Amino acid sequence: MSKVAIFASGAGSNADRILHFLNENQSSVKVALIVTNKKEAGIYQVAENHQLPIFYFSNQDFLEATPVLQFLQEQKIEWIVLAGFLRKIELPIVSAFENKVFNIHPSLLPKYGGKGMYGKKVHEAVIANGDRESGISIHLVNSEFDKGEIILQAKCIVEKGQTVEELVENIQKLEHEFFPKTLVQYINEIK
Ligand code: GRF
Repeated sequence: MSKVAIFASGAGSNADRILHFLNENQSSVKVALIVTNKKEAGIYQVAENHQLPIFYFSNQDFLEATPVLQFLQEQKIEWIVLAGFLRKIELPIVSAFENKVFNIHPSLLPKYGGKGMYGKKVHEAVIANGDRESGISIHLVNSEFDKGEIILQAKCIVEKGQTVEELVENIQKLEHEFFPKTLVQYINEIK
């Protein structure tokens, strides 16, 4: 069994899809727990629906990294999945989990990545620049924001006149389709 922790700060729709996918497909990947930096967010409901423990750490804990790292080591976590987690993962965690932290970003990196590029801001920039395509990037996390090795990208067309909301919807479909199976495949190949 590969023991995974999901980190999430928001609605948790990707976390939900990953957990459903693992339930539906026999897998040696097991999500043991969820970690969050928010006291209220949709991810709490996702944790409850899947009967998973959820642990809160403050932004200061994430900045110091050691409290979170110690906890993950005590829990024997082997992989971390960032599913809409809005904090930088500091070096002590990146080093301890080298090539074992995944992130999903809602653009075709290296375009529209980096500090401050998250959520709607990404899609607004894609539309403002008149790009004809966008997509998702599933990548490993290193010490630089959105710069780790890309494992998979999937694209969608951006129609003329498309709204941010419509683009969000298309991107979310790609995320939900590709994130769970890409993670499982990657973990199975590596271990
Ligand atoms: C996703 O768009 C993901 O790409 C980004 O944050 C969003 C998370 O959405 N990193 P959800 O909380 O999984 O619904």
